Amino acid sequence: MKSYRELANSVIIDSRKNILMDYDDLLELAGEGRSAFVFRIKGTDKAIKVFFPAFTHIAQEESEIYKALQGDPYYPVLYDSGTNYLVIDYIRGLTLFQCIARGIPVTPEKIREIDKALNSARKKGLNPSDIHLRNIFITAEGQVKLIDVARFRQTKTCSQWNDLKMAFYKYYMKPYFPKRIPEMLLNTIAALYKKNLIPGMRIKEKLINWGR
Ligand SMILES: Nc1ncnc2c1ncn2[C@@H]1O[C@H](COP(=O)(O)OP(=O)(O)OP(=O)(O)O)[C@@H](O)[C@H]1O
Ligand SMILES: [Mg+2]
Repeated sequence: MKSYRELANSVIIDSRKNILMDYDDLLELAGEGRSAFVFRIKGTDKAIKVFFPAFTHIAQEESEIYKALQGDPYYPVLYDSGTNYLVIDYIRGLTLFQCIARGIPVTPEKIREIDKALNSARKKGLNPSDIHLRNIFITAEGQVKLIDVARFRQTKTCSQWNDLKMAFYKYYMKPYFPKRIPEMLLNTIAALYKKNLIPGMRIKEKLINWGR
């Protein structure tokens, strides 16, 4: 069996456009974010997150936060970390983004469970941030798991989850609201949100952060 470091080193990323050029046959691509590629290590229940060259500094920050969360069932176990990678539990399931894109209903019970997961991190002195649809999993067994905790130590207030919750109860829960939203439309809504172009959203966050 190759070491985690060797597996991480096999991942070749073109640093100009963060394009994935090559990776070991033992790896299977599981997802991509704004800072990393994530692979399942074949034949195991482990995932390796390999950061883009310009984002390797996040590996240490994220590993320290995972260490603070160890033993918490809402977060993956951390097995190893290195200069540009993390090894955590591979989560069998779907992100909330995938659930909505496929029309798999999200229930208020799951939303309450996500709140519990966030509160659990707060009890450990963390400040859960960057909580968006692709960072929340519902496992095959129906459990909630949160990933991508790199920003949990930021001091800035992040209202993203409160905004998502508001949209869930105000729109998604209405009987006429479609339960399947095409991926492209979801991405467009996310992009508009990031640019602060959705009326009524993120105003509170701006006011709080301006006051700092
Ligand atoms: N442990 C895991 N098990 C299964 N899939 C995963 C796992 N971790 C990440 N993924 C998949 O890879 C995607 C990217 O992972 P992650 O969110 O950690 O990357 P990121 O670059 O930090 O993301 P962001 O764009 O949110 O900053 C996730 O949205 C998910 O689809
Ligand atoms: Mg993410």
